[in-house]
Amino acid sequence: MPTRDQGLGDISEFAMLDLGHESRSIRGQSITDSHGRVFRKLRISVTEACQFRCFYCMPHASPPVMRPGHLDAQGFARIAHALVGAGVCDLRVTGGEPTLRPDLDEILIALGEVGGTRLSITSNGQFLPKHFPALHQSGVRTLNISLDSLRPDSFKAITGRRLEPVLEAVHAAVADGFSVKVNCVVSRGRNDDEVHAFAEFAQRTGVEVRFLELMKIGPGAVDHVRDFVSAAEVESRLATGFGWVPLARGVDETAYRIQLEGGGRIGFIASESKPFCGGCSRLRLSVRGELRSCLMRDDRIPLAGLDAQGILRAAGLAFRAKPTERIERVDQAMHQIGG
Ligand code: 5AD
Ligand code: SF4
Repeated sequence: MPTRDQGLGDISEFAMLDLGHESRSIRGQSITDSHGRVFRKLRISVTEACQFRCFYCMPHASPPVMRPGHLDAQGFARIAHALVGAGVCDLRVTGGEPTLRPDLDEILIALGEVGGTRLSITSNGQFLPKHFPALHQSGVRTLNISLDSLRPDSFKAITGRRLEPVLEAVHAAVADGFSVKVNCVVSRGRNDDEVHAFAEFAQRTGVEVRFLELMKIGPGAVDHVRDFVSAAEVESRLATGFGWVPLARGVDETAYRIQLEGGGRIGFIASESKPFCGGCSRLRLSVRGELRSCLMRDDRIPLAGLDAQGILRAAGLAFRAKPTERIERVDQAMHQIGG
């Protein structure tokens, strides 16, 4: 029987488990673990494909957008509905790049109809504007857009793609009434000299800029010692031009945030130097319909064929398999795990 810190083992094991006594997670009751963590957030990866080539994620070819057996809008919504019944209050659509799914609008609307939960999306931005109507319709208020550089040449070097469509998407999203957060993965020699430029961007646009530490995930782990820039270093660079006050941090928030004097909000996601595993409230759902207990762990529970009660039991098992301390590195890239 899998235990909390041993992982879930071979996924085929799960099919043979007698789940009856394994989980107390029944509809209406929240899913918790023995460390006081509460399952509140579900990341839903709708594809592993991406048209960008970020050096730390997908430097080479993309997998196909969809394969046989991948979930459709109703499949995602059915699982989300079961989990919202157990207290999940935050759904985030991720990938890969969600906008590559031809049925993204349908997925958003189906998830919006689940109700009782916040819904948001993470995207590289390029194709996002054409989904603004469906995003509004499904109740999405906040968009997370990856934006690693404000300079076209550096952006191209990091992502292999053009900056302009992404910048245009960020501005269009603000103009369309969304609250926008941009994720900037800081890496040595590529964009670590842009900390002030991003702070000014936050002040000018009202967009929250979040500086992410490069994680030892997939290709991001390859030259990690060379590429890594800590949140503390970003903070000290920022301090040479800006003053700020810290903002309150929720128990399961990945970012700690500051309010710049003169306006603008900045967040720091210090996954490597200050891991937040002890407060983590997330599970991840893959496009294949598998639940993953942790970003850094490759064990998964397939939900195919389970009814709502079975989904809740599986979620209980996955949640209690979460590690409490940071695992060093993982071979799979973020686009395969669901960002
Ligand atoms: N380390 C840190 N952030 C990463 N992302 C993808 N791979 C990594 C990594 N190895 C970021 C993307 C995106 C978010 C979902 O995760 O840039 O903004
Ligand atoms: Fe695509 Fe995001 Fe991975 Fe970049 S980090 S390749 S935008 S999935």
